[in-house]
Amino acid sequence: MRTDTGEIIHLEDYRPTDFVLERVDLTFELDPRETKVEARLIFHRREGVSPDAPLILDGDELKMTGLLFDQEEILAANYDVADDSLTIRNLPATAPFEITITTELNPEANTKLMGLYRTSHVYCTQCEAEGFRRITYFPDRPDVLAVYTVNIIADKQTAPLLLANGNYLGGASMGDGRHFAAWFDPHPKPSYLFALVAGDLGVVEDTFTTMSGRDVALKIYVEHGKEPRAAYAMDALKRSMKWDEEVFGREYDLDIFMIVAVSDFNMGAMENKGLNVFNDKYVLAHPETATDADYANIEAIIAHEYFHNWTGNRITCRDWFQLCLKEGLTVYRDHEFSADQRSRTVKRVAEVRHLKAEQFPEDAGPLAHPVRPTKYREINNFYTTTVYEKGSEVTRMLATVLGADLFKKGMDLYFDRHDGQAVTIEDFVACFAEVSKRDMTQFSLWYHQAGTPLVTASTAYDAAKQIFTLSLEQMVPPTPGQSTKEPMHIPLRLGLLLEDGSEAVLSSATGAEVTGDVIHLVERKQTVTFTGIVSRPVLSLNRGFSAPINLHFEQTPADRAHIARHESDLFARWQALNDLALPNLVAATAIAREGAKAECDRALIDALLAAAADARLEPAFRAQALALPSEADVAREIGSNNNPDAIHAGRQDIMTAIAKAGRDIFSTLADEMVVDGPFSPDAASAGRRALRNTALSYLVYAENQPDRALDAFKSANNMTDLSQALTILAHRFPDDRKTVEALSAFKARFGDNALVIDKWFTIQATIPGADALGRVRTLMADPLFNSTNPNRVRALVGTFAFSNPTGFNRADGEGYRFLARQILDIDPRNPQLAARILTSMRSWRSLEDVRAEHARNALREIAAAPKLSVDVSDIVERMLK
Ligand code: PHE
Ligand code: ZN
Repeated sequence: MRTDTGEIIHLEDYRPTDFVLERVDLTFELDPRETKVEARLIFHRREGVSPDAPLILDGDELKMTGLLFDQEEILAANYDVADDSLTIRNLPATAPFEITITTELNPEANTKLMGLYRTSHVYCTQCEAEGFRRITYFPDRPDVLAVYTVNIIADKQTAPLLLANGNYLGGASMGDGRHFAAWFDPHPKPSYLFALVAGDLGVVEDTFTTMSGRDVALKIYVEHGKEPRAAYAMDALKRSMKWDEEVFGREYDLDIFMIVAVSDFNMGAMENKGLNVFNDKYVLAHPETATDADYANIEAIIAHEYFHNWTGNRITCRDWFQLCLKEGLTVYRDHEFSADQRSRTVKRVAEVRHLKAEQFPEDAGPLAHPVRPTKYREINNFYTTTVYEKGSEVTRMLATVLGADLFKKGMDLYFDRHDGQAVTIEDFVACFAEVSKRDMTQFSLWYHQAGTPLVTASTAYDAAKQIFTLSLEQMVPPTPGQSTKEPMHIPLRLGLLLEDGSEAVLSSATGAEVTGDVIHLVERKQTVTFTGIVSRPVLSLNRGFSAPINLHFEQTPADRAHIARHESDLFARWQALNDLALPNLVAATAIAREGAKAECDRALIDALLAAAADARLEPAFRAQALALPSEADVAREIGSNNNPDAIHAGRQDIMTAIAKAGRDIFSTLADEMVVDGPFSPDAASAGRRALRNTALSYLVYAENQPDRALDAFKSANNMTDLSQALTILAHRFPDDRKTVEALSAFKARFGDNALVIDKWFTIQATIPGADALGRVRTLMADPLFNSTNPNRVRALVGTFAFSNPTGFNRADGEGYRFLARQILDIDPRNPQLAARILTSMRSWRSLEDVRAEHARNALREIAAAPKLSVDVSDIVERMLK
């Protein structure tokens, strides 16, 4: 399988390897520019494979300096070597044999951050998805599972720490200033889970006693001096280990679990067996430098990578088409973990906001693909929100369809049956079909059909007969490569709220399967009848966002307000407020487009302020209720011919109207929600801060002057409050002298903390309006900008493109042309980073003509460039198709 030449790989072409890999023995002699790797690989020919079949190994930019067969040199006629493959012929028909390969690497020159590279003087590897082939020639695919021994030799002074997967075997000094260490991982694993780290790092240590009483050493490695900032990550790790035992019955399986934080990393983190490598942004936290959101992310990602030990590592993917097998499932597990650690409702609201903001646009644009794709050109481009977040939603629906008990039984069967294997989505789903005796064929369409289903609902109530009728119709929109779709199995949780706020019993339903409060929509059109409904009910549909769909249901503002006030499902209350707000924002956009000022419906204002002032609701929920749909949400709702400036202006009008009407409530909240005492990142305190900062932001809208934000900035004693205040100042009063001073004070105070300086760049990159581009250009010339650090590039260039709709989508197209040049500049160094940032243009076709035309031209400029990476050319070609 050659994938770096850009040819298309198809799921249907899958077949097992001709040779079985039995053992892997690796020796690294580390050097910043001349690292030597010796790989001893023991293979045997798989039964039934032709004795003529050659062994073909993957490589990527490799330089081979030695090749042996059973310790003897191989005749030149018996092998072919290219920088991306090694083919060896005339190998034994049945007997096992050993291939020894020596390669030479230059970690310092590895700017792609795949394979072995250096970051802040630390050697570090990243192998998922196809990075191991940049270390040695290898059958680099996830269905090749082997046991690894790793020997590391390095200079003792600069690399006192030598780490690899598994358990530590031993080590010693070598007398020449170098030392070595040996590691053994008894669990067969695919190459993408290999890891090596060497350098000089500080450590935080702890232990965890597993449910069967084994002690596991826990170690988190960070830059010297940053150890105190790893305390929260350690706490989150221990909670994750405990939770996975209690909820999924999963115990850890090595003597040691290590996490290493590095500052140059393309993704969030990586679940290498026993040796997770993290982007330091998801490890390091301190009240003065981390926001509540940072703490929540750290907790979630620590859990996510740890949970992979079972869902991903013990049971892995047969091929990369099955990526959602580990990612969708593991995201579901980390979502459930966070819901248990914090507020379930607030967590669900945040998940759904994120899903709608990121996955829905992907599913509605040129990059749409099934959760389980059937073809790809560059697998790096499939680490998407569809595979991760929609994959998680599909797992959640599985639990909804089956119910908690059968879902647990299915998971237990999966762990039992497939431990130690590399499997497929079909294998996973079969476990649930078996325990539930349900035919899961239709449900599986969620893995195969791309696009967000649209469900249209209409209702009728016959008061005389006390009958309520719900008519449902589903439509799955066409997506690239899939023009027609089958009806899906859509589990819709619902409630019928009666006039007094109580709920009707649903047991009398006919026309659909109903289990508990779930209607199973399985036909294109289905009518469900409920009898014995004593008064006209208000329908609350898709409670808890039980299915990731778009819902069209004409409902009066009064009914939505009724849900917002009475639903027992708090998520549905938030949803109702959101549904009340969206039409206002859409209408305001149309008015702003005419150059006029928009008004806000009283029903929305009343419902929002009632939620804001309702002390029975937790503060974090009230903050979510008050956070209006984003500009991107409004754009998605409008769907086509979008003008981001009008959306922005309309939304400002609505915000101002709400702010003025709720001034007293907001000012009370700003006082009441002050958090006293020393900082604690717990969910309740974070919720109070969130509500207070939301109130503050409305007050600034009402007052239209910066003093209140400036006071907040000056009195803040934690990064959440400080960065929120600075954001308000910068976004609302960018040119005010006080803002300029605040920005430079912030920079001076945190200049030596990279993660905080990322925030400083992000806050400025997201200042709305046409001036944003000039600001971004100026910031790129700042000495603190660093074009080789992925976090920094994402903080400035990435956030500008992804999260500044008015600045990026300038009507004159300068934003797109700027991005095109950035992509072409980043691509030769780090194609993965370039391709990812380019996906910010995925919704370009929904813009109004003038802007879309500029966007298309910028994409064409990229497409026409000589020497594009496969990563970028794959994205740009799909976007232009
Ligand atoms: N497997 C990682 C995760 O989601 C993500 C990742 C993919 C990291 C590819 C690096 C490279 O947990
Ligand atoms: Zn993952």
